[in-house]
Amino acid sequence: MANLEEFRKEIEQFRSEKLEEIEQFRSRFLGKKGFLIALFDEIRNIPPAERKDFGQNVNNLKQRVLERYNELKAACEAKQAGPEGPDDLTRPANRITTGARHPISIVTKRLCDVFRKIGYTVAEGPDIEDDWHNFGALNFAPEHPARDMQDTFFVEPGILLRTHTSPVQSRVMEANKPPIRVVCPGRVFRNEAITARAHCIFHQVEILCVDEGISFADLKQTLDYFVKEMFGKERKIRLRPSYFPFTEPSAEMDISCDICNGKGCNICKGSGWVEILGCGMVDPNVLSLNGIDPEKYSGFAIGIGVERSTQQLFKTKDIRLFFENDIRFLQQFEAL
Ligand code: DAH
Repeated sequence: MANLEEFRKEIEQFRSEKLEEIEQFRSRFLGKKGFLIALFDEIRNIPPAERKDFGQNVNNLKQRVLERYNELKAACEAKQAGPEGPDDLTRPANRITTGARHPISIVTKRLCDVFRKIGYTVAEGPDIEDDWHNFGALNFAPEHPARDMQDTFFVEPGILLRTHTSPVQSRVMEANKPPIRVVCPGRVFRNEAITARAHCIFHQVEILCVDEGISFADLKQTLDYFVKEMFGKERKIRLRPSYFPFTEPSAEMDISCDICNGKGCNICKGSGWVEILGCGMVDPNVLSLNGIDPEKYSGFAIGIGVERSTQQLFKTKDIRLFFENDIRFLQQFEAL
């Protein structure tokens, strides 16, 4: 009991502002070889009549050591974090949180860069377009089904949310003489049901090249270069004949699906191929409608789907993730 009194005094008198000393204090009493363990061991040697009292006193002592330890430690830490700053300058710094670029922006930029590298310049057009640039100047017949209310969001008669980036082709040709080489990124809108594969808002990058003597071979070479730069040398491509009012001949291009490695998944509808762009030789009618002489000039155009390209590059299965702005999804792109 006399021993206990001495310990109690020591505990009450102990003062320190050094974490190291405070730790030593703790282990002197509470450590594996500390006084308190020894005291607990002692209990069985105490005569039964005094045992209960002794045990209680040892327990109280233990409580008191813990309290003192926590008090001193908290005071010490509060002081270290005070205006003079922490003592430990080797402590890792607080993390600086940076924003992340949206994956669609990352891929749009990469697509543009691939073409800028071979001499194309970036051109942009308005999201709210008129009927002429979105359809008329691109050789869509007046009764073409794409003008239908089911596809197009009209703002007012004759004014709409552009359904593709192709109207930028028309705006560029209107304002410039060949040679023309432009890459046009942008957001487009269509009245479509939202699913894992489709959305009513999406993004395209449009390419237009007009000059003397441009042929389909130039288009194929450009596509080949583009796919190798963007998706890697191993990726296979295939061209399928297609139809667009503003190109003749027209094609759609697929790349082998990287998500399932060509085995078939919900992104490629089980085919192993994903369509990522439409392309073709600019229809001579489109050249004349936009003030360029089709006898002298020819050209090709390409329209790339940015969401499809992004899904392939980042193996994102559901297109809706791009529009939900879920921070857990977006943070994954911090380093890019
Ligand atoms: N504008 C077309 C669409 O949205 C895509 C397209 C096809 C663009 C062929 C082109 C092209 O420039 O040549 O469906």
